[in-house]
Amino acid sequence: MLKITNLHASVEGNKILNGVNLSLPAGEIHVLMGPNGSGKSTLAKALSGHPFLEIETGKIELDNFDITDAEPDERSLQGLFMAFQYPTEIPGVNYSNFLRMAYNARLPKDKKLPVFAFRKLLKEKAALLELDEKMLDRNLNEGLSGGEKKEIRNFATCSSRA
Ligand SMILES: Nc1ncnc2c1ncn2[C@@H]1O[C@H](COP(=O)(O)OP(=O)(O)OP(=O)(O)O)[C@@H](O)[C@H]1O
Ligand SMILES: [Mg+2]
Repeated sequence: MLKITNLHASVEGNKILNGVNLSLPAGEIHVLMGPNGSGKSTLAKALSGHPFLEIETGKIELDNFDITDAEPDERSLQGLFMAFQYPTEIPGVNYSNFLRMAYNARLPKDKKLPVFAFRKLLKEKAALLELDEKMLDRNLNEGLSGGEKKEIRNFATCSSRA
């Protein structure tokens, strides 16, 4: 699903990644561990297309599609993005509306779901992933506990694949 081949990258002329090779099959959860300063965050930035990072050589493939030079939004549409450890609160924007806009942004005009159809789909996913439906009417991260922030983030990530 994700394949990194001989990835070399630098930031402001400092060489940081020196030939990273990694293959991750679909359906598995992996954790990257290593000493401070060894390049974990830099690798994550390379994968998400951080603009300050220069990829010198190497290749990143997602679902057999070369995304080495893709823009961050193109990668996210393919399903690869960085989740924030400390997500921002956005008062006035609830999860239901936010997720509908994100969902519809990926679809052609004739396939976009209207409010009620999307709400039905969202409720089905919430039941499947055991998320309290009430969470869908809360505003983005506003007043959520640390655990709830994680829970809703996992829901938003997993529901698109569930
Ligand atoms: N903009 C930059 N300019 C110079 N060096 C940088 C820059 N960004 C990262 N580095 C260096 O690259 C190396 C890797 O940093 P990175 O943040 O990827 O490490 P890490 O594995 O995530 O570490 P930690 O476990 O501490 O989070 C470090 O030595 C860091 O100082
Ligand atoms: Mg780090």
